[in-house]
Amino acid sequence: MKVSVIGTGYVGLIQAVGLAEFGFNVVGIDIDETKVKQLNEGKCPLYEEGLEELLKKHINKNLTFTTSYESIKDSDVIFLCVGTPQDRDGNADLRFLFSAVEKIKETISKDDYKVIVIKSTVPVGTNRKVKELLSGYNVDVVSNPEFLREGIAVYDFFNPERIVLGFENLGNKKPIKIMESIYYCFKEKNIPFVITNWETAELIKYASNAFLATKLSFINELAKLSDKVGADIKTVSYAMGLDPRIGNKFLNAGIGYGGSCFPKDVKALIKQLENNNIEPILIKATDKVNEEQIKWFFKKIKNYYGDLNGKVFAVLGLAFKPNTDDLRESRAINLIDMLLEEGAIVKGFDYVKKARENTINMYKLDKTRAFYGYNLYILDDLYETVKDVDGIIITVEYDRFNKEDWERISDLVKEKVIFDGRNVLDVEKIKKSGFKYYGVGR
Ligand code: UGA
Repeated sequence: MKVSVIGTGYVGLIQAVGLAEFGFNVVGIDIDETKVKQLNEGKCPLYEEGLEELLKKHINKNLTFTTSYESIKDSDVIFLCVGTPQDRDGNADLRFLFSAVEKIKETISKDDYKVIVIKSTVPVGTNRKVKELLSGYNVDVVSNPEFLREGIAVYDFFNPERIVLGFENLGNKKPIKIMESIYYCFKEKNIPFVITNWETAELIKYASNAFLATKLSFINELAKLSDKVGADIKTVSYAMGLDPRIGNKFLNAGIGYGGSCFPKDVKALIKQLENNNIEPILIKATDKVNEEQIKWFFKKIKNYYGDLNGKVFAVLGLAFKPNTDDLRESRAINLIDMLLEEGAIVKGFDYVKKARENTINMYKLDKTRAFYGYNLYILDDLYETVKDVDGIIITVEYDRFNKEDWERISDLVKEKVIFDGRNVLDVEKIKKSGFKYYGVGR
């Protein structure tokens, strides 16, 4: 079976490489010529563990990349994996998706049967719209949302918890059979397949992300109370999580969720409720708590020092979560901006080299660590970063921080105080090294 994947961002690239590993002939299509060239040379444009190895394994064998849509003529299945960013009003912007559909229309012949699979996160009703746009063509449109987590996306691709497939008409077995044969490996492993209609599949994606985001905002709001009354939110989460009805995942309080999915998807769900004349009471609160969380944490830092002007901080973590180079909606970047705004000097570090490089590029910093207009330095070494600082701020939940030499860190800093925005540090160990410790709700 021949497969095309349109859009080689984070979702499309993993889909293309993953299907190549399953043995399909895959062509990845993207409008970005530089990226296509890079991919054909086996170079991965984004950091994701294990991805470049798989790309190298299959490139120019059963996997190629191109800017031309011609290859879809030979494809049985076409995956649409283009970005659906947030528009000015908070709705999902479907321009890229519809433009890809137009290009498909221009390329395929009306009689040639194709299965068009929408993997992009799209508002309820989009699959139906795409089918309408393709009316007169011999195609079936399938909704197949993705549930990959950045940083461990390759693992997630090969070990999904469920495969969700939405169809126009469940009586039409042809596209169902084709999709089952695409994901035959998961059938063999007894991974649950949820076969349903378009609207349900589309809603499953938003419901899953918004639910996790709500869990986070819930614990983050309680963390503020915990802080005030002298409770320990980490113990609260632990004890709550022992009840299997609650579960212990996504209950770690912190400075709020970031990334390219939760913030955007929560806002898009709010819009979908509003567009259907339903007041989005709960989801709106989830969003609001998240927006406030970083401000609350910043206030905590500010209250400690009084004036931040001229104070030097080590910000440990730059991306929106561990093991990624993705800075989108990163709370670390929000915090850096707030500190710089108040005249503080920031020394930033992340274990992921590409996250550091992306930060340098984003702030247009000089490679020699100098800066223009910002008191910001990005350093390659954690110990260099903490040298002579007035405080350490943890912004990404790396367990690795606990393996660092805290005695040495304690000797390097100017003032022994830590603000742990992810409640990730071993408090006893940190305090033994002479640090004052301030977490989120503990
Ligand atoms: C999220 C979902 O988890 C995936 O299932 C989904 O496929 C993906 O969005 C998507 O829609 O594409 P991702 O954005 O990679 O994945 O990030 P998560 O691991 O979910 O983390 C999101 C944010 O929540 C991060 O900023 C993280 O630091 C924060 N978080 C997570 C917490 O603050 N506490 C926790 O306990 C867990």
